[in-house]
Amino acid sequence: QRTISSLNNFTEDEQMFREAVSKFANEVVAPKVREMDENENMDKEVIDAMFENGLMGIETPEELGGAGASFTSAILVVEELAKVDPSVSVMNDVHNTLVNTCIRTWGSKDLKERYLPGMAENRLGSFALSEAGSGSDAFALKTRAEPKGDGYVLNGSKMWITNSYEADVFIVFATVDPSKGYKGITAFVVDKDMGIKIAKKEKKLGIRASSTCVINLDDVYVPKENVLGEVGKGYKIAIECLNEGRIGIGAQMLGLAEGAFTKATNYCFHDRKQFGQYIGEFQGMQFQFGQIATEIEAARLLLYNAARLKEEGHNFTKEAAMAKLYCSQIAQKSASAAVDWMGGVGFTREETLEKFYRDSKIGTIYEGTSNIQLQTIAKLIQKGH
Ligand code: CAA
Ligand code: FAD
Repeated sequence: QRTISSLNNFTEDEQMFREAVSKFANEVVAPKVREMDENENMDKEVIDAMFENGLMGIETPEELGGAGASFTSAILVVEELAKVDPSVSVMNDVHNTLVNTCIRTWGSKDLKERYLPGMAENRLGSFALSEAGSGSDAFALKTRAEPKGDGYVLNGSKMWITNSYEADVFIVFATVDPSKGYKGITAFVVDKDMGIKIAKKEKKLGIRASSTCVINLDDVYVPKENVLGEVGKGYKIAIECLNEGRIGIGAQMLGLAEGAFTKATNYCFHDRKQFGQYIGEFQGMQFQFGQIATEIEAARLLLYNAARLKEEGHNFTKEAAMAKLYCSQIAQKSASAAVDWMGGVGFTREETLEKFYRDSKIGTIYEGTSNIQLQTIAKLIQKGH
């Protein structure tokens, strides 16, 4: 399939990795996309194949069973998967950029050794922060963690939890002391079989194959060794992890924008003729291609820049928020234009364009809505004054 990227600022390893993932997405994922969307279910063979192909422990060190690759590699995987299916892409993204990152960055040696190898091999991760009463205001969470014996007992309910239907390992954020506000929030690594229950699977507009559930924790005992980082510092873990995760969602939305653009322009240049010529040859169409392609290129530069800043140890919070904000706007624009460019065919379920269009809506909502990204950017600008 033709691509629209002409950038060549990746290492040879990253470029090879990107190509391998593109092949994987087209050969393994593409044939299942329509069925998974219709069934609102992730095919287990796709999940297994992601593990078997080394896509689930990208930054995990080799000695712990991972690929030991760069953050940029993790981002490229999310982008390539999203060109074919944003649902599979977000499953990979949450597992790598949120859950593995949490354990790799804040976990004790014992936690890393106990969890990371399994999570590179076959155990899926999920990140449980949001609740019914706390979405944008995430630090107002109510789930309680009360000390008992050599651990904590967790009680509460989490909402909107991606991957939770299939997951084995959850990062759960709960407060050990509500009187301390967000400074009571603590992060726990919780195995599904410690007692996490799926209470409801949401039916959604888009990314339908990606599971999004309400999960309940009723008297779930978690040993103190499974506290991630320090007690009371869970809020910092949550948001610092999300700063990275937002680059991942940017990559998902960039991939979606590119996937929709490539599919629709192929149709316009090679398949569809009206008035005796390919519809892509009309100037009215070409001006639109030029505009969207330019915006996709701008999104790409914002995204890769944020990823490199993170990787090289610079401040990247503002740039990550900008990349997530802009990529999610461009995804909606590209997917919407792509439906128009394919006319009636674009509107049917025969093609994946209507799906890209539905899937694109989520980018401005999760991992912080667009207003939250704008607020984050503005707070950092203010701080610099
Ligand atoms: N990076 C680092 N630290 C940050 C930060 C950031 N982006 N934003 C806030 N903080 C820190 C502040 O420094 C402060 O810490 P200290 O007291 O130690 O200095 C603390 O957080 C509180 O700061 P504020 O009073 O400014 O924060 P707030 O209560 O107004 O809101 C927030 C903070 C909850 C993080 C909010 O800005 C936010 O991002 N909300 C969106 C929540 C979100 O992204 N949820 C995603 C859930 S996971 C998901 O969605 C996955 C998926 O779909 C696939
Ligand atoms: P609200 O916070 O109620 O926001 C509603 C509207 O109000 C938005 O437009 C928002 O921008 C605006 N608003 C709110 N506060 C402000 C403000 N201060 N200034 C200006 N505008 C404001 N969470 C997890 O923990 N883990 C997951 O894996 C996960 N996956 C998700 C998957 C899906 C499909 C969805 C839909 C959500 C997921 N979430 C997850 C939750 C997601 O992060 C939240 O939905 C998101 O942060 C927004 O919260 P909310 O839905 O409560 O909306």
